[in-house]
Parts: sequence; structure tokens; C-alpha cells
Amino acid sequence: MSRAVVYEKFGGPEVLELRDVPEPHAGPGEVRVRVTAAGLNPMDWGLVARPEAAARFGVTLPSGFGYDFAGVVDEAGPGAGYAVGDRVHGGALGRAVADFVVVRAGDALFRTPDGISDEVASTLPVAGSSAAAALAAVGLRAGDTVLVGGAAGGVGIFAVQLAKLAGATVLGTAAEGTFPFLRELGAEPVAYGPGLPDRVRELGEITAAIDLFGTETAEAALKLGVPPERIATIAAGPTPPGGVRATGGADAEPGALTQIADAVAAGRLRVPVAAVFPVERIRDAVALQASRHVHGKVVVTL
Ligand SMILES: NC(=O)c1ccc[n+]([C@@H]2O[C@H](COP(=O)([O-])OP(=O)(O)OC[C@H]3O[C@@H](n4cnc5c(N)ncnc54)[C@H](OP(=O)(O)O)[C@@H]3O)[C@@H](O)[C@H]2O)c1
Repeated sequence: MSRAVVYEKFGGPEVLELRDVPEPHAGPGEVRVRVTAAGLNPMDWGLVARPEAAARFGVTLPSGFGYDFAGVVDEAGPGAGYAVGDRVHGGALGRAVADFVVVRAGDALFRTPDGISDEVASTLPVAGSSAAAALAAVGLRAGDTVLVGGAAGGVGIFAVQLAKLAGATVLGTAAEGTFPFLRELGAEPVAYGPGLPDRVRELGEITAAIDLFGTETAEAALKLGVPPERIATIAAGPTPPGGVRATGGADAEPGALTQIADAVAAGRLRVPVAAVFPVERIRDAVALQASRHVHGKVVVTL
């Protein structure tokens, strides 16, 4: 037997249970990963809380939980292209927070470079690819001044640093208490909420914007005269207002995640991990992530 976090009804963190489940095994072209860390994302609890969101992703009850994972290959089927002992990270929808996940080698599975812990590797897939996709959607280039909405969150920490590495100046929205965190990350902070366009204008001219929270930042950028093709959101559904681009992790360029992992391994990009919980405390981990005021990533260990 092995353990997995599962839920049998929709609801809040209280519906999540750590259960003994049969051990899965790798078939041809598959690997079994002994998961040691799982990074959390809003979609994880979003699927648990909202049946309509679960249906959109093809999730049915009872379901496993989580998407991002990292660990070590401990079974490799024929033709999988990985060997027992390889360190990997990747994504497995509704299955990641478990002692073992079985994934096809062609699915979202990446080698973990030396120099990155599993805890950090488990934060990369969703947030890293979403940040890269958002910056690519607006054609970010050196010399830009980009406004990042929700800059201190799981996606924001990657977006801010990737934009800086690309040679942009970064303004980031946050609550005032978060300003020191954002400055340390390399962004000039600006408070979200009513009056945002005026506060941004006082800081200077922006040339692009990515909204990682909803539409407030996108709308502020439109008001400040940024062309809609230089504004993107990952958090407003498929048709955001004003011709703004909708994007998400699935749109990331192939190779984007490997570049991010390499930048982390080389010390050019750091991943603030706000909290690490043992899997027995999955409900606390999810409640913290769902507070929407986390700075960086929340990780569960197994
Ligand atoms: N489409 C995709 O592929 C995709 C992929 C990943 C994420 N997403 C979506 O993108 C969003 C961000 O994900 P995430 O992982 O970064 O979330 P997160 O880690 O939960 O974001 C937390 C951050 O949001 C900030 N925040 C709270 N209220 C805010 C407000 N009113 N305006 C602006 N920022 C606010 C907080 O800053 P303070 O603490 O300073 O308040 C905190 O740092 C979520 O809605 C998620 O579902 C979409």
C-alpha cells in the first residue's frame, strides 16, 4: 500500500483525506515516481471547491489531489527513456500528492538539475510555465517597463525575476505589507486596489502588463494607454476585457521550464518557499495556499 491525498466530495480543505491506496506500477513507456514534494497552486483547491471547474478538467469523484510534483524515478517501464534513480519533476492532474505517481515519459516530466532540491523543483511546473507564457504573450523585451499584477504570488515570483533577467524594469502590485518582499525580488511595489492607474502613473510609464490575479492590472494598463496586445492575464478566463490576451501555462514555449530550472540551479533565479508542510497536514497547507496572500510557493512533503 501507499498513501495518497483523495477527496470524495467537493468542498474546502476539510474534504481532503490522506488514505492508503494500492501501489501503482509503471507500464511500457511509463515511469513511477516516488514523490517527495508537491507544490500547491490555486487550481488544486479550485478543482476541489468548484464542481464546474473540476468538470472542465475532466476530474470526477472520488479524485486524487494536486498537480505539481518532484521526486525520484523508482520504476521505469520499457521505452520510458528514464532510469531508476533519475530525479524528475512534473505534473499529474489530480494525482500529485501521493507517495507514487505513474506518468508517461512524454507527459509533463522534466529532469531535475543538480543543485535544486525536490522541494524547489516541485514549485516549478505550473507557476514557472505560466509566468513564462504571460511574459511571452506580451512580447516582453529588454527596456520594457512591465506592470505585474499579483507580483508576490506563486506565479509572480517567477514573472518578476524572469522579466528582470530579460532586461525589463518591473513594477509589481501587492498589499503594502508585501512591499519589502517585492523590493527584495527586484520589483518596484505599487498597492493594488482603487486608484491603481494613478499610482502607477506616478512611478513612470509602463510599456507592458501581465495580470496574475484577475483584470484590475490589465484594466489599469489599458487606461494608461498600453496597447491590448502588450497586456495579458492568466486569471480571467478565455475572454478578458478590452482585447487583452488570455494565456496560461499550457501556452509556454517548449523549453521554457528547462530554462527556468537551469536558472534556479545556476543561482540566477530563486524560489521563495513560504511554507513546507508534511502531507499529514495537507488541510493546513491548502488553507494557507487558498488564503491568496502567500508570498511565493507552498510545498507539501511526502
Ligand atoms: N491559466 C493558467 O495556466 C494559470 C496557471 C497558474 C495560475 N493561474 C491563476 O493565476 C492566479 C495566480 O496564481 P498564483 O499561484 O500566483 O496565486 P497565489 O500564489 O495564491 O497569489 C497570491 C498573491 O496574490 C496577491 N493578491 C491578493 N489579493 C490581490 C489583489 N486583490 N490584487 C492583486 N494581487 C493580490 C497576494 O499579495 P498580497 O499578499 O500582497 O495581498 C499574494 O502574493 C490564480 O488565479 C491562478 O488560478 C492560472
